[in-house]
Amino acid sequence: MLKIEDLWVDIHGKEVLRGINLHIGRGETHCLFGKNGSGKTTLLMTIMGFSGYEIKQGRISFKGQDITKTPLNERSAMGAGLLFQRPPTLRGVKLKDMLAVCRRGKDDSGLAEQLAVKYGFDRFLEREVNLGFSGGEIKKSELLQLLAQNPDLTLLDEPESGVDIENLQIIGDMIRKLLQKDIHRNRQKSGLIITHTGFILNYVAADRGHVMLDGQIYCQGNPLEIFEGIQKYGYEECVRCRQ
Ligand SMILES: Nc1ncnc2c1ncn2[C@@H]1O[C@H](COP(=O)(O)OP(=O)(O)OP(=O)(O)O)[C@@H](O)[C@H]1O
Ligand SMILES: [Mg+2]
Repeated sequence: MLKIEDLWVDIHGKEVLRGINLHIGRGETHCLFGKNGSGKTTLLMTIMGFSGYEIKQGRISFKGQDITKTPLNERSAMGAGLLFQRPPTLRGVKLKDMLAVCRRGKDDSGLAEQLAVKYGFDRFLEREVNLGFSGGEIKKSELLQLLAQNPDLTLLDEPESGVDIENLQIIGDMIRKLLQKDIHRNRQKSGLIITHTGFILNYVAADRGHVMLDGQIYCQGNPLEIFEGIQKYGYEECVRCRQ
């Protein structure tokens, strides 16, 4: 689904990603741990194709196609979707209209609206996207937009941050639907989840974990084992372990 080879990225002349390699297969969910400022969001924004992330070297392939120079809108149309760490507020755009835009050209199942009703979030459909939404409400709004878009590769930048324990279950449920976690054979959807707390992994199983430090991936393996190691020994142990 996604193959990143030796990716080097600068932001405003600052070297942020330094030789990233990452493979995510069809149907797989990976998670990404790492210190603040290590480059996790930069990686997701670069995969999506946002401007300002200057690729100095390397290659990004999505569904077997080189997308290193493909514009963001085409990557989105090909099936890449992102939950922002800090999404913008869209004044004058109602959430229900945004869902219609996200769904454009797709199967109109109305799943996003059905879930909005199921989780008592339907009154927000008439509100402007993210305007005055609480931290947890923003995450639900972002996930509804993704459910309408129905991407094949979903990039989730700290989906559980600021979400209370009860709503965590709802967020987890929405991500499970996005990543087809209830399908065990021939699952088509893939995901990459950034998490600091690891809470989301109690609801959404990940196949593989990665630790990013200082713009490089230091470790790859069983996500729960990696997370346990970070909790016990801190990121310094990742540095020592690699040496
Ligand atoms: N527009 C920018 N101008 C200058 N530096 C930037 C810019 N955007 C990001 N950076 C820097 O790039 C580095 C990586 O930032 P990034 O947001 O990718 O980190 P992160 O791993 O997602 O951190 P966090 O866990 O805090 O979200 C940071 O040092 C950040 O300050
Ligand atoms: Mg970040």
